[in-house]
Amino acid sequence: MFSSEGPGLRELAVQALSSVERGYDLLAPRFDHTPFRTPDRFLDAVAGALAPLGPFQDGLDVCCGTGAGVRVLAPLCRGGVTGVDFSAGMLAQARAAHRAGGPAPRWVRADVRSMPFAAGFDLAVSFGAFGHFLPAERPGLFAGVRRALRPGGLFAFPIGAPPPVTSAWYWAFAGFDTAMRVRNAVRRPPFVMYYRTFPLGAVRDDLERAGFDVALRPLAEFGRRPDGSPRARLVLARRT
Ligand SMILES: C[S@@+](CC[C@H](N)C(=O)[O-])C[C@H]1O[C@@H](n2cnc3c(N)ncnc32)[C@H](O)[C@@H]1O
Repeated sequence: MFSSEGPGLRELAVQALSSVERGYDLLAPRFDHTPFRTPDRFLDAVAGALAPLGPFQDGLDVCCGTGAGVRVLAPLCRGGVTGVDFSAGMLAQARAAHRAGGPAPRWVRADVRSMPFAAGFDLAVSFGAFGHFLPAERPGLFAGVRRALRPGGLFAFPIGAPPPVTSAWYWAFAGFDTAMRVRNAVRRPPFVMYYRTFPLGAVRDDLERAGFDVALRPLAEFGRRPDGSPRARLVLARRT
């Protein structure tokens, strides 16, 4: 899962003992060689599903990291593309990686729990970051994204179906989350990263309460589970 250029176990352990922000600062130079960077096949599936809904004017990547979401936003947005993240290290990598070719994205350092934008975007996306927010933080996060969008603007992100209890992934995620809870009970600052705190039903309720109309699209590229439900969906939350 990690390439030879990726971080070693010791580096990952040091990262996990830091705050989220500091942890990503440390990981930033090697982040693109880890499985935590959203794979292109996911980005391309989302771009394909969004294309018929566009074009859009201005796009925002929420928790942009090293800028994976630019691959989705740049071809869909006629205006500018902005990435927002609180890790200066991740933003430095993003800036360096997206220097060449096409109009340069704007990189903004901010905590997205206090989103610093108002009615500036028509499309917001987010990839691979929701595990960093406690359920109680979701209403504030969604309200901030809504505020950042113009009326009628779209907030889109992929969400995977939870693995069945019979699968190894189910137990791996449950074990990871338990280890994180123990770590956070005994050590400060907390490192908030959980795999099972972003269930579709509760997320949909929070989006609707924040003032979005929510629709779901299956991402066909990832197939279906034995019960026929999609393995991955695109959440399309439109600012009402
Ligand atoms: C797993 S990385 C995902 C990066 C990128 N979206 C991708 O898919 O490759 C999570 C990112 O979320 C950012 N992040 C976590 N909590 C944040 C917060 N409260 N405000 C801003 N950024 C945050 C981290 O700094 C990190 O860059």
